Amino acid sequence: MSATNVIAQQLGNGDLLRDKCFIGGKWRPSRSGKMFRVDNPATGDQVGEVPDCGPEDVQEAIEVAGRAFREWRERPATDRAEVLRTWARLMHECQGDLARLMTLEQGKPLQEAMGEVSYAAQFIEWFAEEGKRAYGDVIPAPVRGQHIVVLRQPIGVTAAITPWNFPAAMITRKAGAAIACGCPMIVKPAEATPLTALALARLGELAGLPEGVLSVVTALKPEPIGRALTDSPVVRALSFTGSTEVGRKLMAQCATHLAKVSLELGGNAPFIVFEDADLDAAVTGAMASKFRNTGQTCVCVNRFLVQEKVHDAFVEQLREAMAVLTVGNGLDEGVQQAALIDRNALMKVQAHVSDALAGGATVELGGKVHELGGTYFQPTLLTGVKPSMQCVREETFGPVSAVMKFATEAEAIRIANDSEYGLAAYFYSRDLHRVWRVAEQLETGIVGVNEGIISTPVAPFGGVKASGIGREGSRYGLDEYLELKYLCMGGAQGG
Ligand code: SIN
Repeated sequence: MSATNVIAQQLGNGDLLRDKCFIGGKWRPSRSGKMFRVDNPATGDQVGEVPDCGPEDVQEAIEVAGRAFREWRERPATDRAEVLRTWARLMHECQGDLARLMTLEQGKPLQEAMGEVSYAAQFIEWFAEEGKRAYGDVIPAPVRGQHIVVLRQPIGVTAAITPWNFPAAMITRKAGAAIACGCPMIVKPAEATPLTALALARLGELAGLPEGVLSVVTALKPEPIGRALTDSPVVRALSFTGSTEVGRKLMAQCATHLAKVSLELGGNAPFIVFEDADLDAAVTGAMASKFRNTGQTCVCVNRFLVQEKVHDAFVEQLREAMAVLTVGNGLDEGVQQAALIDRNALMKVQAHVSDALAGGATVELGGKVHELGGTYFQPTLLTGVKPSMQCVREETFGPVSAVMKFATEAEAIRIANDSEYGLAAYFYSRDLHRVWRVAEQLETGIVGVNEGIISTPVAPFGGVKASGIGREGSRYGLDEYLELKYLCMGGAQGG
């Protein structure tokens, strides 16, 4: 029996393990017939195989999406909501199988994968409702008898290029909003995690999404797919989550047809602990933010800034909490930290730790590849870290807590803002005046105040500076897929 058949048998719903792409409502191989394998980061074993699509497959997806748009946009939002709600319900019903598939291809602990499936379904539920409220506006006219009306209309065919760290939620956060507004979406999932995307497409098909409203084009090399999407004048909006470098390129490509872009890019989140903080709460928040998805989220803490007076106490409490983290295969009971996605990820973490040590930082815990080998890295705590170090300047994307000391509030804000990125920031303080002062001065799109987990479908997720453009989730998330049209209705004639 092939490895893929074994996995299919392990999933209660083997139907969710797909080996075809989903284009224009059809499950089919790539036009070239090429495939690529998907491996489990925890073991290196093959989990599945999917089509390696090219620009010709994208072209077909765009054509069908263009036709689908004409019908889907005309459906009442309440009808679209009905289909979306069914899609979300199916995700909840298949939560266990989807989570298992996600852990197999992405590595994250099963409990976290279960949480992500629920998070992903919540985006669909949220936008099913929010799509009904894509209200326009009536503006008092400056001329007697005139009427000014603003409509919010679906933008057209849309595309999404999504990352491996959240194989389900980063798709539904985009597709939920687009589809609720009346826009078809073509999704290119990350090459490391296409299986979850295809499983979601299967559930979307079962929920009744019409042909071409959702396509999933899998490919090993993202560049030609991105190029084909941005070369087409039919694709009117592109949403990307991933690195700043790729985001810049896609934005430049979108300039050709002036397609709208929304970019959720790298972060470098500071986590500031002021001397008036509740230290227990700060450590709880730090653990939740830093070690979610083994440190592989754009909003994970990247640098800890701790005020001198509480530095040693905070470090000791954090060390104790980190020392008991269970590292292992994400499928095993009780595992909290899993394998990193691939060898490049591991090498980056190693390089950041080596650079910090060479610059005089101290290892309080960990610091090495985990004894399990592969791409496992020990939960690592570094102190004496300096602003010039790689682990402070760049996103480490791994289980490393890098701690710096500061003296004054002004210094903490200066260090926190000394980054080209501006996605999330966190701080802990019990002083109300300080809370407002600091929250207003941090140059990020998201601020966690005495809170380490800020992700929710109801709030606008997104960054400033090199962390991106646009917002996802919340009522603002619809704006990426809507155009404003202003009607100027002339003054009364006759009557
Ligand atoms: C991300 O890492 O890109 C998203 C994380 C989240 O939604 O919390």
